[in-house]
Amino acid sequence: MPIQQPIGVFDSGLGGISVLREIHRLLPAEDLIYVADSGHAPYGGKEPDYIRHRSLRVADFLLGQGVKVLVVACNTATVHAVEFLRATLPIPVVGIEPAVKPAARLTQSGVIGVLATQQTVNSPRLRLLIHEHASGVEVITQACPGLVEHVEAGDFSSEDVLQLLKHYTLPLLDAGADTLVLGCTHYPFLSGAIHAVTHGRMTVLETSTPVTHQLMRILEKHELRRTSSAPGTIRFYSSRHDEQHYISMQTLWQNRLDLVLLPAPYR
Ligand code: SIN
Repeated sequence: MPIQQPIGVFDSGLGGISVLREIHRLLPAEDLIYVADSGHAPYGGKEPDYIRHRSLRVADFLLGQGVKVLVVACNTATVHAVEFLRATLPIPVVGIEPAVKPAARLTQSGVIGVLATQQTVNSPRLRLLIHEHASGVEVITQACPGLVEHVEAGDFSSEDVLQLLKHYTLPLLDAGADTLVLGCTHYPFLSGAIHAVTHGRMTVLETSTPVTHQLMRILEKHELRRTSSAPGTIRFYSSRHDEQHYISMQTLWQNRLDLVLLPAPYR
C-alpha cells in the first residue's frame, strides 16, 4: 500500500470530527477522507446488525478511494463492528474506546461515570473493558439518548441540551463520581455544556488524542506514515446533504469545507 494514500475516518455522523481535528493536528502531512453517515445517524439506538451493515458500506466506499488505514471514529460502531471490519478488510482498522482505563487510574473518589449511547452501554465489549481495567472502582454507565441528535443539529448549549445533560450527569455526581468518561465522539462538542451543568466537579476524559496516538503507532508499524512538509488535504463526504447539515458540519470543523454526497450505492 503506497504511503501517499489517504487515511479514511468515519463516524455515524459529525461526532468523528472531534477525532479528525486531532488527527489533522498531529499528522498534518496526511491526506484525510472523512465520511459522516449522518443519513443513518444516530447509530446508538440501532440494532448491531444494522451498525455492522452501515459500517461495512462506508468502509467499502473508503476502500474504493484507496485509503491505507481506516479509523472508526465512532464508539458505537467500534463496539459492534470493529472486529468484523478487521476480519473483512485488507487494511488496518483503528477503533476508539472510552477512556475507562485512565479514568480508573485518575479517580480519587473511586467512582467514575461513563456517558455513551444505548448500544455502547449494552455492549459486551464495554463490559469487558470495565472488567479488565476498572474492576477496583465503581463504574456507572449512563445511556444518553437525544444528545447525538442535538450535536448533529449543531445545537451544543440550548436549554433542551442543558436539561438532558443535567438529567444524565447529576445522578452521577450524587453517586460520588469525580471522573466522567465521554464514550461517544459526539459528546466532546458538549464539553462546555457539561462543565456548566456539573459546575466543573468532574474531570472529563475523551479519547481523540489516544486514538490518534494509536493511529500513529499503526502507521509506523506498517511503514505507512507520511512525513512530507506539504500539508495534507481533507475531503468530506456524507450520506446526508442539506443546508442545515452543511452548516453544522462547518461549525464543528471550524473551517470552510466542501461537502460531497456519498454516491448512491453507499448511502
Ligand atoms: C451515535 O451515532 O449514536 C453515536 C456515535 C458514537 O457512539 O460515537
